[in-house]
Amino acid sequence: MSQEENPVKPWGGRFSEPTDAFVERFTASVTFDQRLYHHDINGSIAHATMLTSVGVLTEDEKTAIIDGLEGIRSDIVEGKFDWSISLEDVHMNIEAELTKRIGITGKKLHTGRSRNDQVATDIRLYLRDEIDNIAKELTRLQSGILDLAEREADTIMPGFTHLQTAQPVTFGHHLMAWYEMMTRDYTRLMDCRERLNQSPLGAAALAGTTYPIDREQTAALLGFNHPTRNSLDSVSDRDFAIEFSAFAAILMTHLSRASEELVLWASAQFNFINLPDRFCTGSSIMPQKKNPDVPELVRGKTGRVNGHLISLLTLMKSQPLAYNKDNQEDKEPLFDAIDTVKDCLRAFADMVPAIESKKESMYEAAKRGFSTATDLADYLVRKGIPFRDSHEVVGKAVGYGVETGKDLSEMTLEELQGFSKEIQQDVFDVLTLEGSVAARNHIGGTAPAQVRIAVENAKQELEGRNS
Ligand code: ARG
Repeated sequence: MSQEENPVKPWGGRFSEPTDAFVERFTASVTFDQRLYHHDINGSIAHATMLTSVGVLTEDEKTAIIDGLEGIRSDIVEGKFDWSISLEDVHMNIEAELTKRIGITGKKLHTGRSRNDQVATDIRLYLRDEIDNIAKELTRLQSGILDLAEREADTIMPGFTHLQTAQPVTFGHHLMAWYEMMTRDYTRLMDCRERLNQSPLGAAALAGTTYPIDREQTAALLGFNHPTRNSLDSVSDRDFAIEFSAFAAILMTHLSRASEELVLWASAQFNFINLPDRFCTGSSIMPQKKNPDVPELVRGKTGRVNGHLISLLTLMKSQPLAYNKDNQEDKEPLFDAIDTVKDCLRAFADMVPAIESKKESMYEAAKRGFSTATDLADYLVRKGIPFRDSHEVVGKAVGYGVETGKDLSEMTLEELQGFSKEIQQDVFDVLTLEGSVAARNHIGGTAPAQVRIAVENAKQELEGRNS
């Protein structure tokens, strides 16, 4: 990054002294917005193409501009481009270099355009591509969850409320709950993509331009659905960044919940799963330690993404129309939200298929904590006892179990009949964990048969996404 050479500012005409050196650094965005170069160049090529078709540029000028921009693109890709702080941002760096390379024609590129509609266009294009990358990674994670859920459709574990054993569930069912959260995330992401996919190009500084521009053409060239409808709104709107960050914050919140469960399950106290060594690290002092760093970090990184959502909301709060320099502050939170989500999804998508369940340990845990108490109450209801009364009866049986250290399924028929005469030998079918989960055999229930149906439906849903 160069600062010394002090190139002439494209906007220098009305100024009588050079910019203060600190102010130059303070106001520049090129250190972070250079990542928009690819989309900035695409936007410029579409703009130059349109200017040519409406007769503002000649064919030769268009060719020179496009060749010049492509040359700049290759140099940037190869790391040979010298970014300059004095040229403030990605837009002016590229435009100044274009003029250096092709001469006066380069100065015509900015006809009928402003950095205000240019940057709004660039961020939308950039975010649209990143949304597509994120959608793919999210789908890869969901497909890994489905494979694991299928393998674990019959695995019994305790289901929790208040982190207390509640009722037995299947591990596959639990994993499918994660899948559901992420399907909502996916649809939110697609909604965001649909709304952002409009072209602000042509709004110019704020009021539009006096040239006979064809906004439909630039919109089509850049793959936008249509041009935006109001020039003031076009240059000032950053809803798409906020919406994306809201998607990101909710997704990260979901990942943090899954992370928390993985951390708990991998602990010696739960002992439900093994996370393969390649996703863990050790301790520099305690030789026995194997720490679940990946889920812990994902859980931790949720904080910064949630923060970015608040930053962007606060950035836009009370801003008068139209463009304000404040908007330059949209990029770092948005970029970091994108980067963080991509990394966390990648880590999860790699890790989830490698989770190994410890089935016996899960089963033992489900047996503790009277997890089939509701099943016994339901059994008594089927024998004609009102639910409130059966709840009371089972409560007494549990109290006896706590005293004697016996699970309901470990009591004799005589012991159970001491609480209700309606209890018969067939009670043991419902007191087993297998019977308990198999009985919840309806849409959305935990029965292995339902988990298999849910996995099948979800696989078709993912097929549809890829086509
Ligand atoms: N770097 C600026 C941004 O990110 C580009 C737009 C600047 N426009 C202006 N009128 N100063 O928002």
